[in-house]
Amino acid sequence: MNSLTTRAARMPQAPGRSPQPSQSPHPLLDSLAVTDLELAGRLQHRLTEVECCLLERAGTDGTAPAAGATSHLITAGGKRLRPLLALLGAEFGDPEAPGVVDAAAVTELIHVASLHHDDVMDQARTRHGVPSVNARWGNAIAVLTGDLLLARVARLAAGLGDSAVRLYAETADRLVRGQLRELSGPASPEDQPAHHFAVIADKSGSLISASVRLGALQSGAPQAAEQALAEFGEHLGTAFQISDDLLDITSDRTQSGKQPGTDLAIGIPTLPVILALADTSPAGRELRDLLSDGALAGDSTRTRALDLLRTSPALDDTRAILATHLGRAGAALASLPPIPAREVLAALCEVIAVRTG
Ligand code: FPP
Ligand code: MG
Repeated sequence: MNSLTTRAARMPQAPGRSPQPSQSPHPLLDSLAVTDLELAGRLQHRLTEVECCLLERAGTDGTAPAAGATSHLITAGGKRLRPLLALLGAEFGDPEAPGVVDAAAVTELIHVASLHHDDVMDQARTRHGVPSVNARWGNAIAVLTGDLLLARVARLAAGLGDSAVRLYAETADRLVRGQLRELSGPASPEDQPAHHFAVIADKSGSLISASVRLGALQSGAPQAAEQALAEFGEHLGTAFQISDDLLDITSDRTQSGKQPGTDLAIGIPTLPVILALADTSPAGRELRDLLSDGALAGDSTRTRALDLLRTSPALDDTRAILATHLGRAGAALASLPPIPAREVLAALCEVIAVRTG
């Protein structure tokens, strides 16, 4: 087993981007160019309500040793993909039903809590273009404020009912097990692709799926719609993680907001790297040699490894797997009623396909 198979080899992350001024408070929504004006207006309005709810829930009473740490990543930004998915899921029932905004906020609070913990595990220095919570306040505060956010999630979810609490518990369980499985690595090199798909399904697919499902649940959408949306979310989440992993190799710094090869340099086993390492050509052999110690030492080895990866057939193989998941996500939408929100969910698949095309 090469040492890329465990996350233990991860090193501190390189500094990321500086915060970019945004023209709009909801750039992800803008990128979807929603043509139905009533839906566009409702989503904009509701996303603004979600922001207020997030800030309110992430506040401390001022006595914490690090007031500001709990809300730090929320104010730093983020795409708000998960709340948007929850709001779109709610369109399949009554989007004005009580609790829809709280459900959307729950999804983002779980995500942010998981980032507090993930950045400790990765010794990350930046997140959303600002110092990570662990970098600014230390690991103990980062873990405890992540826990505090989870406590706030539990309180918010309790107000939404038993099904919401159960979904939250199941999702948190999968998130943690995904991270644990990533830490332990595959049982053998042959198991690595299957192991990797199981990891990304749990650490990315689970919460994306739960987000769109929680919105549907809260809106009273029919159970068949909730199930179709859950399946859509699983595939979208997996595709989203794969597209992030591709961008780590193919993008330049201005596109991705981080140094290309960041995951590679710190020894994270992403799909394109796993596939490239299995390549038996001379280029595959050279890449295996470069990565034999797990993390990459120095800029010149990183540049060479990126060159090898960018010309590897593994990139097209990864794009094909990404397209398969996007296709499955699109197929899951087919059984849903043809309302404008369904078109927006399909547009999200397009956005993911285009960013790595
Ligand atoms: C980012 O992945 C991290 C996740 C998708 C999940 C993290 C989950 C945990 C730390 C388990 C704890 C969960 C809860 C609910 C507290 P990445 O490291 O591949 O991506 P990155 O480049 O954005 O860091
Ligand atoms: Mg990370």
